[in-house]
Amino acid sequence: MKETVFITGASSGIGLELARCFAAEKSTLILVARSAAALEALAAELRGQHQIEVHVITADLAQPESPQRVVDELKGRGIMVDVLVNNAGFGLHGSFAELPLARQLEIIQVNVASLVALTGLFLPAMVERRRGGILNVGSVAGFLPGPNMAIYYASKAFVQSFSEALFEELRGTGVSVTNLCPGPTESNFFKVARGHRSRELQIAKMSTDEVARAGHRAFRTGQCVKVPGTKNRLLVQLPRILPRMVVRRSVAKYNKLK
Ligand SMILES: NC(=O)c1ccc[n+]([C@@H]2O[C@H](COP(=O)([O-])OP(=O)(O)OC[C@H]3O[C@@H](n4cnc5c(N)ncnc54)[C@H](OP(=O)(O)O)[C@@H]3O)[C@@H](O)[C@H]2O)c1
Repeated sequence: MKETVFITGASSGIGLELARCFAAEKSTLILVARSAAALEALAAELRGQHQIEVHVITADLAQPESPQRVVDELKGRGIMVDVLVNNAGFGLHGSFAELPLARQLEIIQVNVASLVALTGLFLPAMVERRRGGILNVGSVAGFLPGPNMAIYYASKAFVQSFSEALFEELRGTGVSVTNLCPGPTESNFFKVARGHRSRELQIAKMSTDEVARAGHRAFRTGQCVKVPGTKNRLLVQLPRILPRMVVRRSVAKYNKLK
């Protein structure tokens, strides 16, 4: 069955690879992010490769009015969405007291408020049609407290809790929710989070392609939570085994400032 899939943060990284996964199924795509040129380039590539319909919508999801504006634009074009992929997100490395408050509130706007708004705008019609689904991109960070990236980790804890709650609420409705929780992944994420001043962490990272394919598969098989990679699956178990203090201090060390 041909579906229409709406993907935020499709201009790079995991979102771009998720777009490739859905394109390979011949879905119609709506690609959303701020970088118009990157979205247009991907749209042209996918149209050429798969002979599919691809729409591009430029939007800054740090603006509270963006989700409604995007949905109005889709209505204007007569497009109905079957699958929502809430992937856009970013974090900032630094202590809460020192990072600019306005930028930290933007993390909440993009990672949490826009994700909730888009869900609220698309979900009722999915439930009414008894088909469709939501793929959220959370993080292993959602399982941990995150000193030196406090708001980012807290935003992903929200995504984790919200996704699991919706999964249960939607049981039997024909609509599914999956939370994909990647660990460190090779993308622009670390460049954005750490600015250009601080060192790049030397850690093993998964590829965006591996992560996206795992997330896509989990969504298609109706899994509620998907943590890709064995090391990441072990990592998310640590808070269940270790005392909270040990977990907090380990993350603080991992995220330590220069
Ligand atoms: N990389 C990791 O290690 C990792 C680990 C766990 C979870 N994640 C999560 O994976 C998701 C994708 O990140 P990524 O690793 O693929 O990083 P990325 O390459 O930096 O991609 C982030 C995407 O989000 C979009 N975005 C950011 N701010 C936006 C805004 N204000 N409005 C609209 N779109 C915005 C970006 O597009 P524009 O800049 O064009 O707007 C880009 O397409 C995020 O939710 C991130 O938290 C990443």
